Amino acid sequence: MAFTNVQDFREVARRKIPRSIFEYGDGGSYDEMTLRANRRDLESLRLSQRVMVDMSRRSIKTRIVGSDVSLPLIIAPTGLGGLFYADGEIHGARAAENAGIPFCLSTMSICSIEDVRAAVKTPFWFQLYVMRDRGFTRSLVERAVAAKCSALVLTVDLQVGGQRHRDIKNGLSIPPRLTFANAFDIASKPRWALGVLAGRRRSFGNLEGAPAAEEGLASLAHWVGGQFDPSLTWDDVDWVRSIWPGKLVIKGLLDERDAREAVERGADAIVVSNHGGRQLDGASSSIAALPAIADAVGGATEVLFDGGVRSGQDVLKALALGAKACMIGRAYLYALASGGQRRVEEMLGILGKELDTSMALTGVHDVKTVSPETLLRRSDGSLVGHDH
Ligand SMILES: Cc1cc2nc3c(=O)[nH]c(=O)nc-3n(C[C@H](O)[C@H](O)[C@H](O)COP(=O)(O)O)c2cc1C
Repeated sequence: MAFTNVQDFREVARRKIPRSIFEYGDGGSYDEMTLRANRRDLESLRLSQRVMVDMSRRSIKTRIVGSDVSLPLIIAPTGLGGLFYADGEIHGARAAENAGIPFCLSTMSICSIEDVRAAVKTPFWFQLYVMRDRGFTRSLVERAVAAKCSALVLTVDLQVGGQRHRDIKNGLSIPPRLTFANAFDIASKPRWALGVLAGRRRSFGNLEGAPAAEEGLASLAHWVGGQFDPSLTWDDVDWVRSIWPGKLVIKGLLDERDAREAVERGADAIVVSNHGGRQLDGASSSIAALPAIADAVGGATEVLFDGGVRSGQDVLKALALGAKACMIGRAYLYALASGGQRRVEEMLGILGKELDTSMALTGVHDVKTVSPETLLRRSDGSLVGHDH
């Protein structure tokens, strides 16, 4: 089958991996209102068509936190990538390296920082959760320094975990287990079973050195559950800033007051994000939150965006509202599950082409110069399709 858009990868992913893993990736928290709003609000925006401008020379290259990239995308940190495809994070990092964009490894990845470091030449980003065990958190940062990670992404929107009903109903477990309930499902995905279930890496790669890991996987899972720290404050960001010498990206902001605070605490970039609709259900879509945040801090820090990006047209819309680049979570996971590195590269190629074509049709030569005029507005200046 020819893959022509992100939806194609999603459909293939659904067929190739067990339902519990697909739904873990695809779903959001509670009633999934924010998950849907991310898509709905992006879809409702309208691009402004312009014609008869010489469009023969175009560029989608830009710079993100000090590095040249071949298109304004970053692979978002996603936990458990290696359950979507055997050694998934290595595949993702290699695909990103070949495509010339940053790969961000999650704290909750299956492949470890060192696994990914050994697999690529280009520096990757590392996403950090500040855990209750600050000593262990510090050791993660030190490992990211040792691996020469080019940015640390501090995720600040998960100090308490939003509930995903489907994960509970599906009995999602780490590492995945063959049970009576999922036996039929797994038996119908033999390639996945052979790669992931029979593979070497099936649990949290970065947490192998964690205190509880010595006592076995059951206690590791318990330890992870207890590590999210509801007492986190901006002072913890200062602490991270003090132990991380490189670029700091703060991810998970929807409010301009928080964005201003992040800038004051020394963020080199921020990510406007609602964690892909997986945390506060009922929160604003990320795209609706973007313009006010970009206005408030766009001059002082780099504004990155994620939530619902499924096409190059979506990327163009986010850039028009003030983002410098977009992170992609699910688009990446669908491609990864469909066939590893090769499919992720293919998907990135599709998004790049869609962006390039849409720029040509909106009269934009250079992705660095996308402006608010790329979006259609009403005569009173408000955005078409945008209710904010
Ligand atoms: C399966 C899955 C796991 C995720 N795990 C993490 C994580 O470990 N750390 C993090 O900062 N964000 C995590 N996220 C959020 C993504 O980084 C990103 O914000 C979100 O996926 C963007 O929305 P999109 O999937 O619509 O592109 C995860 C998202 C998904 C779908």
